[in-house]
Amino acid sequence: MISKSIDTQKIAYCPYSKFHVGACILGDDGQLYTGCNVENQSYGLTICAERCAVMKMVSNNCHCIKGIVVSTNIGVTPCGACRQVLQEFVDDKTNDFPVLIVNSETNEVLESSMKALLPSAVDLHFLKH
Ligand code: THU
Repeated sequence: MISKSIDTQKIAYCPYSKFHVGACILGDDGQLYTGCNVENQSYGLTICAERCAVMKMVSNNCHCIKGIVVSTNIGVTPCGACRQVLQEFVDDKTNDFPVLIVNSETNEVLESSMKALLPSAVDLHFLKH
């Protein structure tokens, strides 16, 4: 998953920030879903790597994340918007999954988790039907 994330980081579409982000999600269907940031000249329309990977997972009819790797050249954690979108697809039982933050320059890996990154997340799952 780390090497897939770094491979996808390299093909990020980021001509404005030049900040390449890669992600790789393991779905509970056993499939890997990669994502990169996709920027836009109307800056606010930019999509982060993490959400790109989530959209690929959901559009393949998978709704549960078992883990995610996010890679950049400095090792940054997912932005707040992505944390909320990732939270939507936690396992019902554990309400959590591992989040690995990779620095692709040094190969350092920080092991975090969804719960650590978004404590006290809103839980409206009872509205689902
Ligand atoms: N970016 C991500 O892809 N994921 C994050 O969690 C942080 C930010 C992207 C968005 C934009 O293309 C670039 O990084 C600079 O903010």
